[in-house]
Amino acid sequence: MARVQVSHVQTGDSIIIAVRDNGPGVPPEKLQQLTTPFFRGDTARTAATGAGLGLAIVKKALQRIGGELTLSNASDSGLIAHIRLKRAA
Ligand SMILES: Nc1ncnc2c1ncn2[C@@H]1O[C@H](COP(=O)(O)OP(=O)(O)O)[C@@H](O)[C@H]1O
Ligand SMILES: [Mg+2]
Repeated sequence: MARVQVSHVQTGDSIIIAVRDNGPGVPPEKLQQLTTPFFRGDTARTAATGAGLGLAIVKKALQRIGGELTLSNASDSGLIAHIRLKRAA
């Protein structure tokens, strides 16, 4: 069963939201490509539908409001997306 864990921490002027799943993650050399528009991983091509735009849109939208998207693999298994948002003044 798919599990998604969402958590957050507050730093000085930011909130960082972590969204983590229990899937296979992504080969480390592919991590940087996930936010390239229309990029789809090899597994996704056969096992999932999609256009390869979701993460690219999230990254751009966050940049526009002064935030940031960072993707990494969890130490055991799964992908983690860190979403940094500026706190309201
Ligand atoms: N949670 C995830 N775990 C592993 N790979 C992922 C995950 N999310 C996205 N990917 C990889 O990044 C590619 C692009 O994802 P995304 O931008 O979300 O596209 P889409 O809009 O098609 O869902 C996917 O084809 C897949 O290879
Ligand atoms: Mg997606």
